[in-house]
Amino acid sequence: MASIRRTLSPYQDRSHHNGGVNSPSHKHNSTTRFAEKHIPPRKGYRTWRRSCMLFFLLGFLLGLLAPFVEFEDVRRSRDFSFEVPTLEDIVVDKSVKEERFDYVARKQLIVVTPTYNRPLQAFYLNRLAQVLRLVPPPLVWIVVEMNSASTETADILRGMGIMYRHLVCTNNLTDIKDRGVHQRNTALDHIQHHKLDGIVYFADDDNVYSLQLFETIRQISRFGTWPVAMLAQSKNKATLEGPVCNGSQVIGWHTNEKSKRLRRFHVDMSGFAFNSTILWDPKRWKKPTSALIRQLDTIKEGFQETTFIEQLVEDESQMEATPLGCSKIMNWHLHLEAHELGFPKGWLLQKNLDAVLPIK
Ligand code: UGA
Ligand code: MN
Repeated sequence: MASIRRTLSPYQDRSHHNGGVNSPSHKHNSTTRFAEKHIPPRKGYRTWRRSCMLFFLLGFLLGLLAPFVEFEDVRRSRDFSFEVPTLEDIVVDKSVKEERFDYVARKQLIVVTPTYNRPLQAFYLNRLAQVLRLVPPPLVWIVVEMNSASTETADILRGMGIMYRHLVCTNNLTDIKDRGVHQRNTALDHIQHHKLDGIVYFADDDNVYSLQLFETIRQISRFGTWPVAMLAQSKNKATLEGPVCNGSQVIGWHTNEKSKRLRRFHVDMSGFAFNSTILWDPKRWKKPTSALIRQLDTIKEGFQETTFIEQLVEDESQMEATPLGCSKIMNWHLHLEAHELGFPKGWLLQKNLDAVLPIK
C-alpha cells in the first residue's frame, strides 16, 4: 500500500499546485475564482482543514516508511492497483544477459580481393561473399579494382551484408604484368595507412574457400601457411602446393612445377595469412628494417608469393603450420576462367516472361 500511495502522490500534488485553493501564484486564474465561489462555512472549513492535515501527515509517515517495505508487498498488491513491474520484468532480458557473458573477443579478418569485370565475375564474387557472410565478425572485405570502381562490383557488394571497402588502384602504369599485384598493394597501402589490426588474407575472387579456412586463420599469431589444392597446368590432375608439417612446424614444401623449384617458399597466394601489424609496426615483430612490405611486379610469374613472404618472415621457424599437422585442405585454386564468354549486357527478362505467358 505504501508504495502505491508514493507512486500516485506526485501526480496529485502537481494538480494541487497548478490550480489549488492555497496556491498564491494562481490566485487570479479561473480555477481559483471557481474555488472562491464555493468556500464552505467557517466551522466546516476548519474541520475540512484538520482532516487535510491529518491525511497529509499520514501520507508523509507512510512515505518515510516506504523504503523499508519489502518488494514482495508491492507484488501482492498488484491485483487491485495499477500494473507494477515484477522483478522478472525489471531484470534485463535473460537472452541478452547470457549473450553478454558469452562474448568472445575475436581477431579481425582482413580479406583482400582483387577483381575485374568479366563473364563470371558476378558468380565468383557471389560465391565468395556467401562464405564470408557466414564467418563470425569482425571481418572486413577489401575489394580492389583497377582505374575505377565499376557499378557491377559496387552493386554486388552493396547487397551482401558484409562489412567491405571498395578501393581503386590508380597506378597508371603502361607496362603492368600482373594487375592483381598492384591491386593487392593498394589494399596494403590502405591497411598500413589506417593501421587496420587483424589477419590479412589474399582471397582471389575465383578460388574456392571453406568456412573452416576463415575460422582457422583467426588463430595465427605472426604468419600462418597451409597446403592448397591446385589443378595442374595440364588440368588433368590435382596437386598440392604448400607446407609439409609436423604439428605446428613447417618442415618442408610440396612443389610441382620444375620452373618454380628455385623459389625459397612454395606457397600459393591463397595459402598464407599474416598479422597486419607487421605492415605498420615492424618493431613489434623485431624486424631489422622498416621498409615497405609490398608485392612485386618485376619478378617472373610464380615468384610473387615467395618474394612477398620473404619480406614477412626470415625462415620457417617464424611460420605457423595451420591447422596442426596441415591435416586438411581448406581451399582450392582452380584455373577455370571462361575466356570465350562475353560480359552479359543485361537481363532478357521480357523475353523469358513471354515464354510462360498463357497463349490466347
Ligand atoms: C596467378 C598466380 O597463380 C598467382 O600467384 C598470382 O597472384 C595471380 O596469377 C595474379 O595475377 O595475381 P591466377 O589464378 O592465374 O593466379 O590469376 P587470376 O585468377 O586470373 O587473377 C588473380 C586475381 O586477380 C583474381 O582475383 C582476379 O580477379 C584478379 N585480377 C586478375 C584482376 O583484378 N585484374 C586482372 O586484370 C587480372
Ligand atoms: Mn585464379
